[in-house]
Amino acid sequence: MTAKSEIEIAATPGTQPARPATLPGDRRGRAGTGRMIRVDQAGELGAAEIYRGQLAVLKDRPCAAVLQDMAAQEDAHLAAFDKLIVERGVRPSALSPVWRMAGFALGAGSALLGERAAMATTVAVEEVIEGHYQKQLDELGPDEAELRGVIAEFREDELKHRDMALENGAEDAPAYQILSQSVKAGTRLAIWLAERI
Ligand SMILES: [Fe+2]
Ligand SMILES: [Fe+2]
Repeated sequence: MTAKSEIEIAATPGTQPARPATLPGDRRGRAGTGRMIRVDQAGELGAAEIYRGQLAVLKDRPCAAVLQDMAAQEDAHLAAFDKLIVERGVRPSALSPVWRMAGFALGAGSALLGERAAMATTVAVEEVIEGHYQKQLDELGPDEAELRGVIAEFREDELKHRDMALENGAEDAPAYQILSQSVKAGTRLAIWLAERI
């Protein structure tokens, strides 16, 4: 190595690489917002499938109309996040096929335990999702007014789904606490994974 090249590679005192707009782990900024849209789209995908699974089993039961109402709203939520994924060039969750299958299996499986178990599942899922959306609303900056509006509106819908499920006997499901805690744990794990993968 020549003396000249040694001089060239020496660090110039006082210069530092510019700090990127966002760092890994930052919750705000484009990367953080992309992560939010990814997990929300995955969640709405799973939610739509939960109701499809429940309807596959309970389509002739009195609660079918309630399930159809909720399913229609989940489809609208999913369509909105699908649009945001495209508009903002966000990579969808690589586990999308898993969320589809897991959602349908949770829906059909809970419905096979009965209408009240299906409703108990809805209460548990919606309580976790409502909290998840509230957390995002707390994190989003004022520059994200459109996304905030979407999430706030959907959060209200999820709270209505929870209330509808409570009105339809969710808490009378057999082993309500165990079912509820299991579904909540599964939903939290799914959120954690979908934010990352
Ligand atoms: Fe939803
Ligand atoms: Fe919902």
